[in-house]
Amino acid sequence: MVPPELAERARATLRRNDRGGYTVPSARLYPFQWNWDSAVVALGWMTFDEERAWREIDSLLRGQWENGMVPHIIFHQPADTYFPGPEEWGRSHRSPPTSGITQPPLLATMVRAMVEQAREPQLARERCVKLLPGLVASHRWWYRERDPEGTGLAVIYHPWESGMDNSPSWDQPLAAVPGTSRPYARRDTSHIDASQRPDPADYDRFVHLLDRFRELNYDAAELYRQSPFRVADFGLNAILVRASDDLAILCDGQGDRATAVELRAAAARGRRALEDLWAPRLGQYVSFDTRTGERLTERTHSTFLAWHARLPHLSDLAGHFDAWMGAAQYGVASAHPRSTAYNPKKYWRGPIWPHINWLIGRGLAEHGEAERADRLRADTLALIERSGLREYFHPGTGEGFGGDEFAWTAAVVLIWGS
Ligand code: DGY
Repeated sequence: MVPPELAERARATLRRNDRGGYTVPSARLYPFQWNWDSAVVALGWMTFDEERAWREIDSLLRGQWENGMVPHIIFHQPADTYFPGPEEWGRSHRSPPTSGITQPPLLATMVRAMVEQAREPQLARERCVKLLPGLVASHRWWYRERDPEGTGLAVIYHPWESGMDNSPSWDQPLAAVPGTSRPYARRDTSHIDASQRPDPADYDRFVHLLDRFRELNYDAAELYRQSPFRVADFGLNAILVRASDDLAILCDGQGDRATAVELRAAAARGRRALEDLWAPRLGQYVSFDTRTGERLTERTHSTFLAWHARLPHLSDLAGHFDAWMGAAQYGVASAHPRSTAYNPKKYWRGPIWPHINWLIGRGLAEHGEAERADRLRADTLALIERSGLREYFHPGTGEGFGGDEFAWTAAVVLIWGS
């Protein structure tokens, strides 16, 4: 059970971050609507305001592009506390303005969970029917534009698309990206201590990539050919295959068998390709740089999304998970605490992220791994009780870092507590 005061604080945080139909992750640090944040947050809203939960998804899909992509940021209203804003992406003429890249496709998985947990099933059915065309279009976009050669693995062009911006896995492919020489002003480090955020050299490259994509006018073929960063991220593809399964079930529910068959075939192709990313020597799954053909063998928590994606090798992975959990006071650290890249304060290079713990824990529970799932839940809630609704946490001390009153942290409290 989550203590009632903590659950109330979580609800108050979602209400406070509500901007009228969408939820900002954190008031000043992230003052717009973010794609995968909203997917998690919607399930949090579902625990106490179902109508509002469905509106979260409607607002997100209002930013969907004609080609099916759901952008990573929807700029519903202006705010001057964040860089890069809408004009940087060259898409400020859209209504609403958006960024030009995407984020991990969690949405269909969360919508399925929302449908299954609905206490107002009629409302859920009505809203889900309206959402399905957008969700299907977004999955077709992933397979068409991000896997044009039909390999089974979708690629990302920017570390921000992985959601795990400065993961050690991206060090190697990012080294091939030139840093921008144009002036720009970061805003994140005026809200959060720079030691907890990506390094300046990473940002120079992040900005180079976004400038390049804007210059290419987001042309799918040119992006695939020219993006200097083109990676098959294990974590994102694990999320994609699972979301395709979940979307197929939603399509079945609407009697759309043909689309369900199409999605299951895509997910099966994805699983076969993910299987090739198993690295027996390391006992984990890895990502893949499709420009160089090299495997990205850093030890990051993404590998544990294998449970969520229902991949093989889960028993081999269980030992790896236990050792990882045993290497720090709290789990699961985003980089292995004994890896050279480990930095327990720095964003995706060590800290614990509540929503990733929830995804891993849910996958474990689905596979009958109740004990491991309970440990993750207990660690996550203990961290939040100790340090508040922070963005991420120190695996050794439990200290909270990054944004405060963070929306998806609040949502995880509500989802795991309900
Ligand atoms: C940021 O700005 O830090 C985000 O992660 C990009 O979406």
